[in-house]
Amino acid sequence: MDHSLPGSSVHGVFQARVLKWGKAGRKRTDPSPLSLPFCNSIICSINDVPPRRYSLYTRTWLGYLFYRQQLRRARNRYPKGHSRTQPRLFNGVKVLPIPVLADNYSYLIIDTQARLAVAVDPSDPQAVQASIEKEGVNLVAILCTHKHWDHSGGNRDLSRRHQDCRVYGSPQDSIPYLTHPLCHQDVVSVGRLQIRALATPGHTQGHLVYLLDGEPYEGPSCLFSGDLLFLSGCGRTFEGTAETMLSSLDTVLGLGDDTLLWPGHEYAEENLGFAGVVEPENLARERKMQWVQRQRMERKSTCPSTLGEERSYNPFLRTHCPVLQEALGPGPGPTGDDGCSRAQLLERLRQLKDLHKSK
Ligand SMILES: [Fe+2]
Repeated sequence: MDHSLPGSSVHGVFQARVLKWGKAGRKRTDPSPLSLPFCNSIICSINDVPPRRYSLYTRTWLGYLFYRQQLRRARNRYPKGHSRTQPRLFNGVKVLPIPVLADNYSYLIIDTQARLAVAVDPSDPQAVQASIEKEGVNLVAILCTHKHWDHSGGNRDLSRRHQDCRVYGSPQDSIPYLTHPLCHQDVVSVGRLQIRALATPGHTQGHLVYLLDGEPYEGPSCLFSGDLLFLSGCGRTFEGTAETMLSSLDTVLGLGDDTLLWPGHEYAEENLGFAGVVEPENLARERKMQWVQRQRMERKSTCPSTLGEERSYNPFLRTHCPVLQEALGPGPGPTGDDGCSRAQLLERLRQLKDLHKSK
């Protein structure tokens, strides 16, 4: 399905907003932080929530209240954002990372000639609005990778403020204020921006990643990967199997080496630390870790990496590599066969990663 905004202006009658927030929810006030059944650390995010509490986060108002609490705390702790970011400019297309919450990234993708902007996962509407005003652009579309509040929480405020702004995402993911449901391979066109949605279920059932095509501006393509793929890591499989997640990771593995990876979180240092545990001899990982540590000493963002780099050190993209299979696989079965599928290896990696983080 094509989702063009012809030329450089926004027009047409938009669909009615199909998902509204409950009135009761809107009237509720934030509870005391101690009353939430998650945790109270500033570094706590949905990715730290124990699986048994996941349905509380996604299916009840506790999840929204938890998000509001984390938003308030992060704004107090990081008034200028958790990291210092650098925009990238390619022949009239600008990608601007915006640090939000404790470790999330939202993005503005801007056609600088038309002064049109697309926001990816604008979870802190205040921070994203400040960037929109600073850049002097019109927000015409929000691309939401998935329903989790730390990615979708700003949809309401921004779509109210920007009346013509469309909200895109998967209809399978209960995204707040969704106006334009997307399917796999649908393209959103805004000025010179051509952005393709790719279905990547596993973290959530309807998770989408967005691929900005570099050809129209003769620059590198850009992948906005939400919680599917991080620098040297991948998201937790909350709503799917290891096979589902592997298939989604293979979808992005098929993209070009030069594709820039713009992930949903700043997890690089921790992820590369884990990669060193499972693949200690990997020199590409070692070099990247040294660079990442220098960046983080000055609180500089580590975005973007490239998919070519990720192939060389990200263990979740390396389940086909004999070195990982030998290190983590169960070994030959009774009949002498390998017995360790890539999906089993991915599952084992995930378990080890969760243990590594909890130490
Ligand atoms: Fe998520």
